[in-house]
Amino acid sequence: MTDQYQNTLNHLYEHPRTWLITGVAGFIGSNLLEALLLLNQKVVGVDNFVTGYRRNLEDVQAGVSPEQWARFRFIEADICHLETCRAACADVDYVLHQAALGSVPRSIEDPLFTNAANIDGFLNMLTASRDAGVRRFVYAASSSTYGDHPGLPKVEDEIGTPLSPYAVTKYVNELYADVFAQCYGFKTIGLRYFNIFGRRQDPDGAYAAVIPRWFAAMADGEPVYIFGDGETSRDFCYIDNCVQANILAAVASDEQALNRVYNVAYGQRTTLNELFEMIRSLVQQSGFDVAGIEPKYRDFRPGDVRHSLADITRARELLGYDPAYSVQDGLEKTAGWYCGQHEGVKV
Ligand SMILES: NC(=O)c1ccc[n+]([C@@H]2O[C@H](COP(=O)([O-])OP(=O)(O)OC[C@H]3O[C@@H](n4cnc5c(N)ncnc54)[C@H](O)[C@@H]3O)[C@@H](O)[C@H]2O)c1
Repeated sequence: MTDQYQNTLNHLYEHPRTWLITGVAGFIGSNLLEALLLLNQKVVGVDNFVTGYRRNLEDVQAGVSPEQWARFRFIEADICHLETCRAACADVDYVLHQAALGSVPRSIEDPLFTNAANIDGFLNMLTASRDAGVRRFVYAASSSTYGDHPGLPKVEDEIGTPLSPYAVTKYVNELYADVFAQCYGFKTIGLRYFNIFGRRQDPDGAYAAVIPRWFAAMADGEPVYIFGDGETSRDFCYIDNCVQANILAAVASDEQALNRVYNVAYGQRTTLNELFEMIRSLVQQSGFDVAGIEPKYRDFRPGDVRHSLADITRARELLGYDPAYSVQDGLEKTAGWYCGQHEGVKV
């Protein structure tokens, strides 16, 4: 852990703040909640459970003390209702806005549904946060904003044309955040997440992300599918790196750092074929008999980009971001969590 991040955590511990996490019952939101409660912060959380789970909140509760849990107030509500957003923002210092409908394929099947949560809901949260006078609005942007731009690694100011409705919504978030800075002097930071993974990421359903889906499939003895030839690559980033980026962004005080977007990634490219090998080996080490499993290849999916790799220089220089966990480190921690949840086909 860098000195800057450690000092930030120490300072927050000594001087607790009030945080609002939208999408708190989701994968990233519940991990932010856990990290902040462990730091003795006060947290308000909003979620409507459209893709999040009560079990994620229960999992966090089990990992913190009763005193820490008592500092959490949960509001079950939809961010598409402005009054809900206003009530949630009252007396809040920092907003970490995570609520949205993820998944490129879901947005292609139902663009209206994705648009409502990701654009109407975002604008409600931005407006409510501005009116409540919160100190900082940090929001989940996405690497999908790079669209068809061929450059690698991806640098924040060079983007292409969006390839899916989901990508449009995430880009519109950035445009609104910029306009709120210009028109109202409101301070925001957008974090363009690149394939975040880790504990509590949903392994189920048609829109599950690749890492939790593969862990669950292997542990359950089910087939593992790869869309395309397996040479598609991603910059997979462990959740604790993402938590670090959120906390640093919320407290950043350098004016140069504000009203910008940042890549949040590890800065290394892994192909799906390589990822398959890494996960199979970890699941095998966890006591499951998967050594003979091979992936089944399917057609490429529409809207998917071929390669993704982030340049994380801007986040390093302006936020002090220094991802502590490599893909292998993160997969090891994730394997422990997922495999602990499955009985599967143990050796
Ligand atoms: N996981 C990734 O790799 C990744 C990559 C890029 C961007 N993101 C973004 O990060 C954020 C969090 O993603 P995640 O992976 O934790 O997904 P997730 O689905 O686990 O979490 C999203 C949460 O938001 C809630 N939510 C959705 N719409 C809502 C609404 N209208 N009102 C209230 N709550 C609502 C869901 O119930 C869920 O709990 C999203 O904005 C997503 O677009 C994630």
